[in-house]
Amino acid sequence: MKLALGADHGGAEQKEALRTHLEAQGYEILDFGTKRSDESVDYPDYALAVAHAVAAGEADLGILVCGTGIGMAIAANKVRGIRAATVTDVDAARLARQHNNANILALSGRFTPLTVNIEIIEAYLSAEFEGGRHQQRLDKIAAAER
Ligand code: RB5
Repeated sequence: MKLALGADHGGAEQKEALRTHLEAQGYEILDFGTKRSDESVDYPDYALAVAHAVAAGEADLGILVCGTGIGMAIAANKVRGIRAATVTDVDAARLARQHNNANILALSGRFTPLTVNIEIIEAYLSAEFEGGRHQQRLDKIAAAER
């Protein structure tokens, strides 16, 4: 599975650690930056790069990290076909996949510890979309995009 990663300065440190962790787990990583936590950058630049890669099928799923995970999700969700979820706990991570078929996870690099973000990613990646009534709801969201 190929994962697209992106972060702003608020998430850069965790993104680097997550990249190392995910590569060790055997995931192929497309890293859109940024690497530095000491240089202020604009989160939409990274959110949109990851969102376009996922929407185009260049990556299967995306993981974004900013200070809160909120701005990244707002920006990524402007790209057609993207369902980005800001997640700060393991249960929401599982449900973001099972019910919402989220194709991007947006994480907080400032308020969620790295160990918890690793658990969140594991819960998200190991869950499966349940389809059925949830697909019907996603179809309504997709119709609103058209
Ligand atoms: C950057 O300071 C911060 O606003 C950003 O990382 C993020 O939290 C936005 O939602």
